[in-house]
Amino acid sequence: MSEENPPNVASNTDETASSENVGVVRRKRFTGGPARGFLSSLAADERIFAADIAVDRAHVIMLIEQDIIDSATGKIILTALDSIETAGHDALSEGEDVHEAIETAVIDRVGPAGGKMHTARSRNDEVATCIRYQLRSDLLQTIDTTLGLREVLLEAGKVHTETLMPGYTHLQSAQPITVGHWLCSYAAGIERDTARLLDVYDRVNTSPLGAAAFAGTPFDIDRERTATLLGFDGILENTMDAVAGRDTLIETLSALAAHAITLSGVAEDLIIFANNGYIELADEYASTSSIMPQKVNPDTLELVRAVAGDITGELTGLLTTLKGLPRAYNRDLQRATPHVWSAIDDITETTAVVGGAIKTAQWNKKALEAAAGDGFSTATGIADALAMTGIPFRTAHEVLTIATDRADGETPTIEMLNHAAEDALGESLFTYVDRETIIDVLDPAMNVSARDSQGGPAATAVVTAIETYENNHATHVAEYKTRRNEIDSASTLLDQEVQQYV
Ligand code: ARG
Repeated sequence: MSEENPPNVASNTDETASSENVGVVRRKRFTGGPARGFLSSLAADERIFAADIAVDRAHVIMLIEQDIIDSATGKIILTALDSIETAGHDALSEGEDVHEAIETAVIDRVGPAGGKMHTARSRNDEVATCIRYQLRSDLLQTIDTTLGLREVLLEAGKVHTETLMPGYTHLQSAQPITVGHWLCSYAAGIERDTARLLDVYDRVNTSPLGAAAFAGTPFDIDRERTATLLGFDGILENTMDAVAGRDTLIETLSALAAHAITLSGVAEDLIIFANNGYIELADEYASTSSIMPQKVNPDTLELVRAVAGDITGELTGLLTTLKGLPRAYNRDLQRATPHVWSAIDDITETTAVVGGAIKTAQWNKKALEAAAGDGFSTATGIADALAMTGIPFRTAHEVLTIATDRADGETPTIEMLNHAAEDALGESLFTYVDRETIIDVLDPAMNVSARDSQGGPAATAVVTAIETYENNHATHVAEYKTRRNEIDSASTLLDQEVQQYV
């Protein structure tokens, strides 16, 4: 690598700067007053401290390789970055943000030559890269937690393929189902949540670095190289898009919000089940009353339900912040990012809590079975049995409507069903079905086992569905691992490259 002043080499004039300027990046720009703290994102930037060090390292290595800075300068900067990393975020002095504070710390350690680190880049491409770099790890953690929750749902599903329960519409007992069917309904929803997060991950995983402020740079940089060193799949081509676009944050937060809404549904169902005595939550997922000694409350799940509100708020905050922002960089963007950090932390924790609550809950088979036929929930099954004999379903429905009206909230007797058939069809019920068939369909267990269509609640259908969900789970685990390995090997590569100089 040439050390002799290639045309591309950054000017050395700042090395002659007076010593009072050493350790200060853009002295005039951050002088204080009430706006000082207001401008600063340093505290919130702790989240991207490690990302910024990695981005600095990759950038410096690329600058050396491209002969934009000489390797001796690169070496002292890389050495300084090691010591800044060891000192940690808390050791940074004040600054508008972590990027400026780290640059200041480099200059503090190595003198004006440290100012070469910021050649051919801007905080605009730097922050956009740091966000994506950190978000990748956070997304992988969330994805992993959704995989864990799906595993819990499917394991419980296998145990409860036959356990009866009431299925609801409008919160009214509607048709008997199995607990396995209920569990699979959420395994299916969360499978899509994982898929959305994996999909979003791949768009997060592209590098804005090298876009500089928004308008590129005259230096002969290698954007693909920094992308590789940081484990990105490629680069964001347009330099203005690279620094200004935050749509990937919107889709990340939207995917998180969709998952939060799924979880709030799980929570609401479980709250109802717990209050009906269908499940018993483990102690650590319930709470007691400080005054009413008899109470055990599903507080954890109520908090899960509330998290969906918080995430919705974060998404709204992000969208509102971004709406109408012109190209290219505007400082509003600084306040956009924390919405995502807050949401992703909340949702990852919440997903784990829901998994724990389900894993440790006891399903009260007796109460569930006793309630499965409540509210004449077997009625549709009888209408189906009649329709299977060739009677139009609408006519069969009419028979059951008449019988239901007359039963006054109870399950009608076979005689009442027969009278209803005589009134609606002008013929005895038994012209169409025998008494045994009706007795069977009135039994919630038989009623459910008849509904064995694909994806239905019958044990046989649930067993088949669980196999499919397990296969899809295994595919997602593999996709998760590939991405995890990619960023792990990139970080090993970056370490190795740094080792060549320090
Ligand atoms: N802290 C800033 C942010 O989060 C970094 C970029 C500052 N750029 C600027 N042109 N003021 O967006």
